[in-house]
Amino acid sequence: MNILVAGGAGFIGSHLCDKLLKNNCVIVADKLIFGARNIQHLCSDKELKANGKFKFYDMELAEQMNIDRLFSENKIDVVYHMAANSDIQKGGNEPSIDFNDTFLSTRALLEGMRKAGVKNMFFASTSAVYGEMLDVQLSETTGGIKPVSYYGGAKLASEALISSYVSMCDMNAVIFRFPNVIGPRLTHGVIFDFIKKLRKSPYELEILGNGKQCKPYIYVFDLVEAIIKLTDSFPSGEEVFNISVESEGTTVTHIAQIVVDVMGIKNVTFKYTGGDRGWKGDVPRFSYDISKVLSTGWKPQYTSDEAVRQTVEDAIKAGM
Ligand SMILES: NC(=O)c1ccc[n+]([C@@H]2O[C@H](COP(=O)([O-])OP(=O)(O)OC[C@H]3O[C@@H](n4cnc5c(N)ncnc54)[C@H](O)[C@@H]3O)[C@@H](O)[C@H]2O)c1
Repeated sequence: MNILVAGGAGFIGSHLCDKLLKNNCVIVADKLIFGARNIQHLCSDKELKANGKFKFYDMELAEQMNIDRLFSENKIDVVYHMAANSDIQKGGNEPSIDFNDTFLSTRALLEGMRKAGVKNMFFASTSAVYGEMLDVQLSETTGGIKPVSYYGGAKLASEALISSYVSMCDMNAVIFRFPNVIGPRLTHGVIFDFIKKLRKSPYELEILGNGKQCKPYIYVFDLVEAIIKLTDSFPSGEEVFNISVESEGTTVTHIAQIVVDVMGIKNVTFKYTGGDRGWKGDVPRFSYDISKVLSTGWKPQYTSDEAVRQTVEDAIKAGM
């Protein structure tokens, strides 16, 4: 199959490409917000190039003309839409980033698919669509959801637009609402921040909020395994899945303890900025019902704490 991975140069998208390339031809379209390092090994692989198995387009996905060109130059069977603004705090200060990268990229891709008659899309959504429903076990059918960040709003709007295209154009869509995803090639987030802060000052670590924020962390290889399994043959119509680990989440303070432990640092003082969250738009905790995804036979290998420890080890090994 010929697969378009929009945002394929990013953290999760690049791991997905590695896996998809085993049995498919992959086209990545990405404007390289974090550079090209995650796909450098694919761009420079002579065998992939010789077999025409991998192509890269450096492009703005929200621009319809770019997308139309992409679909006219390539016969695409499936679209994996992994592109979005992944810096929620940055989007909080500048909503146009989420509007463009998270929502308009979805719109342009759906339009491109409609015109080219492409029927299958995987969409990377997020727990942020639920907003702040702190004491509810969130299932895919939980109603009354109200995002509290521009990012969550842009993702929920994207999901709604996908539903309309599924219905109007007889498309098929698999939507995963990811929790926090971590692992090798991570470019942002709490683990990344803690390592950077401790490299600068190993005696004191500033922790945003009161440290009790608690979220599930999934290891990226577990997530990619689930994406491949559930899109191996697309179900007809639209299917939404909460995806997460089976264990409880990991608190921010516990993440700090794991980072300090793996880095072998002694006598660090944790300094909390206070309040129940890290920043406006952050959701301090959530709890997922993942029975739907577990019923497919997929099972994560890592618990949330194990995923955090493994990610810190990966980052240190990668020279961070
Ligand atoms: N990482 C997480 O914890 C997490 C959690 C929930 C959902 N998600 C979703 O998963 C997907 C992948 O996340 P990630 O962590 O790999 O993010 P990432 O930032 O590493 O990757 C996103 C990629 O999309 C590209 N991109 C963004 N907007 C673009 C545009 N307008 N035109 C062209 N390229 C564009 C970026 O250059 C980047 O390479 C995103 O949709 C994200 O919202 C991630």
